[in-house]
Amino acid sequence: MTVSNNTAPYWDPYDNELRRSPYEAWRRLRDEAPLYRNDRYDFYAVSRFDDVMAVSLDVENFSSAKGITLDSIGEEPQFASMIEMDPPHHDVLRSVVARWFTPKAMSRLEDRIRKLCAGYLDPLVGQSEFEIVDAFTARLPVMVISSLLGFPEEDHDNLRIWSDAQVHRDEGAQTRSAEAVEDSRRLQEYYWNVVQARRQDPRDDMVSQLIQTDLTDVDGTVRRLGDIELMAMMMLINVAGNETVARLLASAALVLSQWPDQRRELVEDPALCVGAVEELLRFEAPSPTQGRYVAHDVELHGEAVPAGSKMLLLTGAAGRDERHYERAHEFDCTRRIDRHLSLGYGAHYCLGAALARLEGKVGLQEMLARFPDFEVDPDEVTYVQTNTVRGPATCVVKPTSS
Ligand code: HEM
Repeated sequence: MTVSNNTAPYWDPYDNELRRSPYEAWRRLRDEAPLYRNDRYDFYAVSRFDDVMAVSLDVENFSSAKGITLDSIGEEPQFASMIEMDPPHHDVLRSVVARWFTPKAMSRLEDRIRKLCAGYLDPLVGQSEFEIVDAFTARLPVMVISSLLGFPEEDHDNLRIWSDAQVHRDEGAQTRSAEAVEDSRRLQEYYWNVVQARRQDPRDDMVSQLIQTDLTDVDGTVRRLGDIELMAMMMLINVAGNETVARLLASAALVLSQWPDQRRELVEDPALCVGAVEELLRFEAPSPTQGRYVAHDVELHGEAVPAGSKMLLLTGAAGRDERHYERAHEFDCTRRIDRHLSLGYGAHYCLGAALARLEGKVGLQEMLARFPDFEVDPDEVTYVQTNTVRGPATCVVKPTSS
């Protein structure tokens, strides 16, 4: 739907047209309805930078333990992973995996990621056009995460398809399709089999190590992760890390076709790609919406929000908040960003932040090394249909010579 200035500010997370061009709708929310109420889908939303940050930090009042996507908030998750838990339980599980994802641990992957990029991008050189999501951006992260988790290469394509189905929603649909539910079952079965296999025959991989790690529970008991906890953790890492990075790199192609001066700067000085990734995260947040369950009555912007409500954090809107960023609607890869919220904030700050940054930097550098000049027709770009992830589902890149 189109948002006109004569109507009340409106945000519909299931509307594909709005998802494609959300920025005017989000500006109106920030300016006119900083606490937005949607009666149709029964949720509240905050969109200003300060509000999204404050709500992210307030885990007492804004809980993740009853679902974090609009279609699931209010239900106890079947297999809760740590992203659907509040401290202190959340912190116990996070402490088990955190050491695998530190910037230092991730930096060891840089050469491997560069080689993977070359393997996907080299065959595209010389082509008059290519669809970059299928050829590159959706393949890279699944390969990186699946290798990290120790999954064999021949399974990677299936894992990508099943993972994508976890976040896909048909247009207007509020819940997952029967096909997506079936893909979810396949993914769970796959993880279950991996856990059983590694218990029998440990290898030098993350799953085997996680199986053998002692954790101290909230009540002081020392124990190890159970099968369900292991599966939920693998599922979370896989789904959280694949879709998002795929969209980040695809958005990079689109954005850099629209800001050619910025692209030239990055081609001339590839070291700027580090900052460009932060700016991309701010400018086109791949995970633009987080969800919370309101655990206690609260007041925001002078209005009461009753316990039991659903609250959306419009992280993507916060990234364009003029109250926090000068020239918020300009893409500037040399911008000095003090902070952004696009990798979350507080207890649930993205576990894979260092990996996302590394894949973003290397992916961008390798792309631009081969395709310094290119065009993308924005009207041809299609968007993924999910109410959690945003970015191109397909994006045709046409290399040009300057
Ligand atoms: C551009 C890429 C990425 C973006 C934009 C992104 C975004 C986010 C955001 C916004 C959150 C907070 C969710 C919330 O507060 O409810 C989050 C959490 C998380 N992300 Fe990422 N992410 C990215 C890449 C990755 C990667 C590569 C991994 C792989 C390990 C990953 C794993 C996770 C996990 C496990 C959590 C939950 C952390 C917790 O509950 O403590 N993410 N991510």
